[in-house]
Amino acid sequence: MALTVPVITIDGPAASGKGTIAERVARELGFHYLDSGALYRLTAVAALRAKADFNDPAALEAVALGLAPEFRDSRVWLAGEDVSAAIRTEEAGVAASRVAAVPGVRKALFDLQRNAARAPGLVADGRDMGTVVFPEAPLKVFMTASAAVRAERRALQLEARGEKADREALRRDLEERDRRDRERATAPLVAAADARELDTSEMPIDEVVKKVLEWWRLAS
Ligand code: DC
Repeated sequence: MALTVPVITIDGPAASGKGTIAERVARELGFHYLDSGALYRLTAVAALRAKADFNDPAALEAVALGLAPEFRDSRVWLAGEDVSAAIRTEEAGVAASRVAAVPGVRKALFDLQRNAARAPGLVADGRDMGTVVFPEAPLKVFMTASAAVRAERRALQLEARGEKADREALRRDLEERDRRDRERATAPLVAAADARELDTSEMPIDEVVKKVLEWWRLAS
């Protein structure tokens, strides 16, 4: 599978800051941005809406195969409903991690992700961007941060939206989600052998963006 456009992959655990960094790097380079987690979140929300059985892999795969999200005006719609806020809840994140463990779901979402690689280039964030979806990417970053820092970042995100945040509960949820994402048999959360690892616990956003852009200049 040769890539016809440059791709940067940014993988890592929940709330490690990948999304923010990937978006900023994409903007700096004028590249497209793929938030692959949103596809798993959309599948989870569609499955919840359809009252699909989360213990039935075939039912979840059918939901993923039928997924037809519309992206309009910076919002995302499923079957005429604006689900932009619904996919960002913690409940949707945990449900996404469950549907993501189903191989048929991952297969159903694979082409959608590969097709995001369009000129002039793509920055893709997720769990398996560097290992499975874009293994030929010239720059792969694996971003981590301590569980305490990640829980704090997620709490600040929720509070910025006017929601309450229980830091202890958030940390428990993040750790449970990471364990499931790391331990699943298909496309587990793991750094690609050729990924550059970056612990962002003590790094401000600007510095992380600078580091990734510097690596990109060296890789491209
Ligand atoms: O990045 P996120 O928190 O929005 O992702 C939600 C869940 O989706 C995550 O817990 C695991 C799953 N996911 C995945 O399995 N593979 C990806 N490439 C992206 C997300």
